[in-house]
Amino acid sequence: MSDNEAMKTFDEIEVRRPALARSYLALLEAQPGRPLTLFAPRRVGKTFFLDHDMAPAAKAARMLPVYADLWLYKSAPLEAINHALEETLDDLLVPASNIGKVAKTRVTKIGVLGASLDLGDEPERRALPEPSPLRLDALVTRLAEQHKGKILLMLDEVQALADSPDGASMIATLRAVLHKRRNSVSAVFTGSSQEGLTRLMNTAGAPMYQFAQIIDFHFLGDEFLQLLAEHFGQVHPGKKLGLAELREAFQKIGFRPALMRDVVKTMSAEGLTDVKRGVEYYMTSGHQVAIWMALLNSIDVFDQAVLVAIAQGQPPLSRATLKVLELIPGSKPTIAKVRSSIEKLKRNGILSKTTAGTTLDDPLFAAYLVTLGAP
Ligand SMILES: Nc1ncnc2c1ncn2[C@@H]1O[C@H](COP(=O)(O)OP(=O)(O)OP(=O)(O)O)[C@@H](O)[C@H]1O
Ligand SMILES: [Mg+2]
Repeated sequence: MSDNEAMKTFDEIEVRRPALARSYLALLEAQPGRPLTLFAPRRVGKTFFLDHDMAPAAKAARMLPVYADLWLYKSAPLEAINHALEETLDDLLVPASNIGKVAKTRVTKIGVLGASLDLGDEPERRALPEPSPLRLDALVTRLAEQHKGKILLMLDEVQALADSPDGASMIATLRAVLHKRRNSVSAVFTGSSQEGLTRLMNTAGAPMYQFAQIIDFHFLGDEFLQLLAEHFGQVHPGKKLGLAELREAFQKIGFRPALMRDVVKTMSAEGLTDVKRGVEYYMTSGHQVAIWMALLNSIDVFDQAVLVAIAQGQPPLSRATLKVLELIPGSKPTIAKVRSSIEKLKRNGILSKTTAGTTLDDPLFAAYLVTLGAP
């Protein structure tokens, strides 16, 4: 879509936050060697922000952004970081995209076209060290040298470090490298699990404690809701969505932009302007209910009942809850059984721990479960 072309769909509505990104860069600049951890729940736009706001802001500041998702490589997060750095280094060394990495290696090995290709002095350089910690250090240094400027290392879902078997020593490595190379690299982390982050910060020996500054990541706000309302107005001349009601709904669904957009799309399709009714309509739509039922059916009956109890705001370990759980045929509810159920539900991302205690990850799913009533 070109800039002056009118917006065509709700899906194209995007909010960019360059000023927020710049403010985070300024925070990093003020404390060299100390990473910034942006904390926020699932689906509120952390990755989108790194990709669409942090990376461009970093480039504008002549930094080289490098992104790695640690959740994707939970079992080997340090390798994931190294891999991202290596990819970026490759891109710098072989700018012409049609050459490609495979070709580069082959050419170097065969040594035929080597002279005509601008591969710099790479073949003469010492190989990178094999062990991950040393490799990280060498890669950061080499990459900053090559770029002739600072790197912005963006690590998404950093709490995955705490879950990896070798977590404590990896955190120590990361911390040491970020500190030692503070003139070459800044780092911004995201985290979506409060529990995971706390564990990360307090891991044995506490190498991360007081090291990373944790700040609450800003949710999208009126700027996003206004764009939705504007577009709604364009599609339905004469109809208007109230900002106050949009705000209320956005809060209810946990500040998740994609979800909010879906709600407004549904309202648009149905010609609804009452946002509250729109949310209800969306929640009870066959499509959404099917997704939730599938999720519910993927867990066993006992866990389902624990989930419903939590959704209804009952203390899961209370006597009253155990009584309700007894109604499930064949279940012999005990505190230990409920606990292990909660752990399971947390592991698969349905429950999460917040300052308010253990709650459902998706507030709308919670509201739906409440409508289902007692198990
Ligand atoms: N600034 C934005 N403007 C418009 N839509 C956005 C914006 N940020 C996020 N979204 C929408 O919300 C969806 C979820 O965003 P994103 O994946 O960045 O969230 P997240 O917090 O990283 O979630 P997860 O916990 O799943 O990693 C995106 O696919 C996008 O559709
Ligand atoms: Mg993400």
